[in-house]
Amino acid sequence: MKSKKKSTVQLTFNDGWSYDPAPESKDHIRLKEQYELFIDGKFVRPESGKYFDTVNPATEKKLASIAEAGDKDVDLAVRAARKSYTGAWGKMPAKERGKYIYRIARILQERARELAVIESMDGGKPIRESRDIDVPLAAAHFFYYAGWADKLPYAVPGQLPTSIGVAGQIIPWNFPLLMAAWKIAPALAAGNTVVLKPAETTSLTALKLAEIIQEADLPPGTVNIITGAGATGAGIVQHAGIDKIAFTGSTEVGKLIQKGLAGTGKRYTLELGGKAANIIFEDAAIDQAVEGIVNGIFFNQGHVCCAGSRLFVQESVMKTVVRKLKDRMETLIVGDPLDKNTDIGAINSRMQLNKIKQYLKIGVNEGGTMYQSACAVPTKGFWCRPTLFTDVSQSSRIVQEEIFGPVLTIQSFRTIEEVIEKANNIPYGLSGGVWTDKGSKIFKVTNQLRAGVIWANTYNKFDPTSPFGGYKESGVGREGGLHGLMPYLQHA
Ligand code: NAI
Ligand code: MG
Repeated sequence: MKSKKKSTVQLTFNDGWSYDPAPESKDHIRLKEQYELFIDGKFVRPESGKYFDTVNPATEKKLASIAEAGDKDVDLAVRAARKSYTGAWGKMPAKERGKYIYRIARILQERARELAVIESMDGGKPIRESRDIDVPLAAAHFFYYAGWADKLPYAVPGQLPTSIGVAGQIIPWNFPLLMAAWKIAPALAAGNTVVLKPAETTSLTALKLAEIIQEADLPPGTVNIITGAGATGAGIVQHAGIDKIAFTGSTEVGKLIQKGLAGTGKRYTLELGGKAANIIFEDAAIDQAVEGIVNGIFFNQGHVCCAGSRLFVQESVMKTVVRKLKDRMETLIVGDPLDKNTDIGAINSRMQLNKIKQYLKIGVNEGGTMYQSACAVPTKGFWCRPTLFTDVSQSSRIVQEEIFGPVLTIQSFRTIEEVIEKANNIPYGLSGGVWTDKGSKIFKVTNQLRAGVIWANTYNKFDPTSPFGGYKESGVGREGGLHGLMPYLQHA
C-alpha cells in the first residue's frame, strides 16, 4: 500500500511505505458515565459514597467513574455470596449449574466485539489481541468449565468432591476479562459463589461481565463484582466470611496476602510475577524464533507475567539473532490500540510507564547497551517503544527483576548446562521457552527449568485445558484445566 499522505497517526517505515489507519469502530459502544457495584444481582451505589476515574491510557481521557467499595460494601458482597451459597446456587443440581455457565460463555461470544473494544479502550492493549485472544479465550474458559459442573466425581475419581464456599478473587490489569474468566468459571463449576475485584485501572469489562451474569439470570449473589483499589482487595482477603482467596498480581502483594492468611484456615492460590527465559539454540529455525521472541516480550506491551523477558542466545548465532530481531523491531507499530495494524498498544497506566522508564535508566546505568526502535509514538498517552538491552550480566537488576513492559534483555551462552543454570538463577519460575530442532534438547530443558509452563518452538500459547502456575516466588497453585478445578473443591 503506497501512500504519501501525512497524518498524525500515519506511520512510515524505513523503506518508505506505510499503512493507512484502520481503526475499529467505537460507534456500537455505550459506556455509562458512572458504574456501580454489582452485589446480590443488582447494581448498587457504594455505601462508601466514593468513586474514582478510569482513563483511556492511549488518550489520557476519562472513560467513566467507578464505584469504590469500602469495608461495608465488601461485607454486603460477601453476605450476598454466602446467601446464594447456602441457598439457590448451593442447592442447585450440578447439571443446572453447568447450563448457567454455558449461558455466560454464549453471551460473551455474542458481545465479543463490544467487549474487545472496551478492553482496548480501558486497558490499552491492541484490538487484534483483545479481539483474537482475550475475549475468545475468556468464552472458552466458561465453555470448558461448564462441562465440568456435572462431572465433578470424575475429576476426583473414587470420591464425591464438594464445593468450598465463598471465593474472594482479586485480579490484575493485564488481561482483565480473561483473568475474571480464569477465576469465576472454575469456582462456579465446582459449586462455589464469588466476590471478585478487578484492578482499579481496568474495571470496565468486569462490570460488563456483571451485566452478562445478570442477563444470564444467575441466582442473585452467586457472582458479586466489586470495584476499588488495594484497600478493597485487602478488605476481601481479611473478611471472615471468605473461604478461599485466588489472587493474580505482583509478588509483593502476593506475599502480603500470604502473610495475612497464615493461620486463618482460608485456602489460597497465588499467581504472581515472572521473568521467563526464552532460550534459542544454534540449530533453531532462526526466523521462526525471532517471531517467537517478539511475541514473547512485545505481546500486550510486555504486560504479561509469563513474558519471555530474558533472552538467551547460543553464542554462534548471537549476531544473527540480534540483527534479525532489530530489523523486526523496526517494523513493529506502536500506537492507537483500536487500530487493527497496531502491534504494541498503550502502557496501562502512568504509574506503570514510570516504572518501566525507571528500569530503562537502571539498565543504562548498570552498563547495558539499550536499543529502541525508531518508530513514532503519539504525543498524548502512555507509550514505550520496543526495547532491548545487550551487554547485561546475570546480576543486572533488569535481568533479575520483573519490569512488566516491552523490555528484553539478551545474554549469550555456550552449553546447555550453562543456560539452564542461568535461566534458573532467579527468584521467579512461571514460564520459559526453548527453540531448537532437537527433541532431546527440548526434553532436557523442559525437565530442568524450574518453571510451571515451558513452550517449545512457540510462545504465549494458552488453552483452557492446560494448567498454568508458578514455582518459587511466581506463586502457589495452578489455574486452568483439571488442576484449576482442584483449589475450588473439598477432597481428600
Ligand atoms: P498489584 O499486585 O498491586 O495489583 C493487582 C491486584 O491486587 C489489583 O486488583 C489491586 O487492586 C490488588 N491489590 C493491591 N494491593 C492489595 C492488597 N494489599 N491486598 C489485596 N489486593 C491488593 O499490582 P500493580 O501495583 O498494579 O502492579 C505492580 C507490578 O506488579 C507490575 O509492575 C508488575 O511487575 C506486577 N504485576 C504482575 C502481574 C501478574 O500477572 N503476575 C499482574 C499485575 C502486576
Ligand atoms: Mg483504564
